[in-house]
Amino acid sequence: MDKEERKTKAKILLDGGDPEETRRIKSLAGYLDGQTTNPTLIAKNPEVRKRMAAGKRFTSAEERDAYKQIVQEIAPLVGDAGVSIEVFADLGTKAEEMLEQGREMFSWAANAYIKYPCTHEGLRAAQISVREGIRVNMTLCFAQEQAAAVYAATKGAKSPVYVSPFLGRLDDRGEDGMDLVKNIRRMYAEGDGHVQVLAASIRHLNHLLGAFSLGCELVTAPAKVWQEWAEKSFAAPGESFVYQGKNKTGQPLAPIAYKPIHLNADWESFDIRHELTEKGIRQFVADYESTLKQPASAAGSQSG
Ligand code: E4P
Repeated sequence: MDKEERKTKAKILLDGGDPEETRRIKSLAGYLDGQTTNPTLIAKNPEVRKRMAAGKRFTSAEERDAYKQIVQEIAPLVGDAGVSIEVFADLGTKAEEMLEQGREMFSWAANAYIKYPCTHEGLRAAQISVREGIRVNMTLCFAQEQAAAVYAATKGAKSPVYVSPFLGRLDDRGEDGMDLVKNIRRMYAEGDGHVQVLAASIRHLNHLLGAFSLGCELVTAPAKVWQEWAEKSFAAPGESFVYQGKNKTGQPLAPIAYKPIHLNADWESFDIRHELTEKGIRQFVADYESTLKQPASAAGSQSG
């Protein structure tokens, strides 16, 4: 599509797991740069739900095939921001195991991005992945230190690396998630530009406009938020736009302070543990396993 037709400088991605929805949202704006998926969103896919409702759960190999089919239907509908595919990882999954999945998933689509969590093992997997030319999207990012580690671990990557700060989930616990996005952008301004900020866990139009106004390279949002934006004629935040983070009852959120962090430090020197990352992993495991005949830990003995 022509550059002139773009509604915003930021690349726009749909956060979802249903190709039909991808078609619908793409037709609203006339384009869609990419899509992000995750185990929760795949468990909500209508075909997957239909199967669950009929009492037919998946083996892990069948689940992977279903995920692959969904990705391959979405991939040609979106642009070069690609389809982000999430590896299965629980809190004990080693980098090598994530990497094995990442290599396979990367072959599913020409515009694939592999999602690894912002954990020590996820970062190790990402470090090797980028050396192999596998594009990565570092997910479940809740802290500036995690984004610094992503930067340091993926230095030298040939393709842009994405980092996904989950701002809505910080808002949920009373912290201003948009501050995290702002702090990461500010920190990365000192860097070489190889990591791009993909604002994620967007819950409403104000989040969307806030992420646009911060100059995020990419924004992923659920269908209902893109629809809301379309209803507002794809309005961009004006000069006078000031983002104000508020909780559900309209109270201001607690600010997150900027930390001066040196991006050139060894990535393993950063304190990257965050309870929301761990909580997020546990939730993804639960949603993934809700589709399986037996827990993933026991699934190694199944047909894949
Ligand atoms: C992004 O990649 C994630 O899938 C997503 O934005 C998570 O959003 P949620 O916090 O609304 O689940």
